[in-house]
Amino acid sequence: MIIAIDGPAASGKGTLAKRLAAHYGYHHLDTGVIYRAVAHALISQALDLRDEAAAVQAAQSLDPATFDDPALKSHDVGSAASIVSAIPAVRAALLEFQRDFAGKPPGAVLDGRDIGTVICPNAEVKIFVVADPKIRARRRTLEALDRGERANEAAILADILARDERDQNRAVAPLKPAKDAYLLDNSHLDIEGGVRAAIDIVEAVR
Ligand code: C5P
Repeated sequence: MIIAIDGPAASGKGTLAKRLAAHYGYHHLDTGVIYRAVAHALISQALDLRDEAAAVQAAQSLDPATFDDPALKSHDVGSAASIVSAIPAVRAALLEFQRDFAGKPPGAVLDGRDIGTVICPNAEVKIFVVADPKIRARRRTLEALDRGERANEAAILADILARDERDQNRAVAPLKPAKDAYLLDNSHLDIEGGVRAAIDIVEAVR
């Protein structure tokens, strides 16, 4: 059983994916963290985010043990990730790792931008999570403040809109719902409400 959860930045898909995985006893992969790790590797070597050879090299030598590095969570690394993720060869280098993960028994929940469309087009359940950009910006601001970072809500909103634009309009694996995805509007749901709605979708399919 594969559950694919896609959606824009700060839509709440990560929390939903984590909770669904815990509910069903499945493995969970936040695929955004993979692109963040590639971006972070380039930034820490002072390399250009558009340097294709360096980005592919970073993608090929990723160590999943570093995926929980708190440095990957920052808003800036997320924006940098949306630049490296537009490089087709970077996406190609990361495909097999994600598909292998998706095949782990007894099941897996993957969240990202192209899980239902490219990585796991045969996933049994596909959920596309949307939320009002202003609400997403508010959530990201509160998260950043929580981590003790400085955060400017207007700047975060502008950044989220720019990131949506980049993710939706790139040539390869753009952010868009799969034809058979269920849309879940998370704007006015709290975490428990979102989890219930997602479980209802999974149960309808199982
Ligand atoms: O979801 P998160 O904010 O961690 O993703 C960071 C960036 O990584 C996204 O803006 C997107 O450009 C990229 N990404 C992607 N495909 C995925 C997951 C993330 O292109 N499956």
